[in-house]
Amino acid sequence: MIPSSYIHVYKPSASLAAPPLLLLHGTGGNEHDLLAFGNALSPQSAVLSPRGDVNENGQARFFRRLAEGVFDLNDVVKRTHALADFIEAAVQAYALDAKRLTAVGFSNGANMAACLLLLRPEVLAHAVLFRPMVVLKEPAKPASLVGKRVLISSGERDPIVPADHPERLAELLRAGGANVDVQVHRASHGLAEEDLTLGRGFLSV
Ligand code: MLT
Repeated sequence: MIPSSYIHVYKPSASLAAPPLLLLHGTGGNEHDLLAFGNALSPQSAVLSPRGDVNENGQARFFRRLAEGVFDLNDVVKRTHALADFIEAAVQAYALDAKRLTAVGFSNGANMAACLLLLRPEVLAHAVLFRPMVVLKEPAKPASLVGKRVLISSGERDPIVPADHPERLAELLRAGGANVDVQVHRASHGLAEEDLTLGRGFLSV
């Protein structure tokens, strides 16, 4: 049965050789936001793109925050599990290849993808995180992320993400055995051409 817990877009794959993508938008986005970007990253991939179910003054997000960079951690945990349950149901319903499901998250969506890796590592194979920050401070459980690759793509002029967060997040994920590559390039918080190049390289391996 098609899961209805999250409004979402599903696009079937054009080639099973391409990894299925879970697209997670930033604050104020929706399920359509990253479709063109995902297509540019990996045109043949199946796509599952949910809309965040938190409404912050009319802007959709994946979990509540109290202020910029200050998160409601109870809500983060609750919604991470809810989204993980949705992903598991959607993988079944759409017959997605769970062993290759790769999150592509931007900003709040990247933060949610990192929370999924930390709390429900079984639902993702790999992740590309554009402009993430540290939300959950507990490291991943030992060996919970072995075999998973993570790209963190950060902007050196990002006014939102504190400069030490990309490497701190990488360490939290490495504690679980993830293979994490941190790339800091000449960008601000918004997606830039270099993100496309980095993401394509990551997904083509
Ligand atoms: C955002 O604006 O979405 C923040 O940078 C990240 C977050 O709140 O999760």
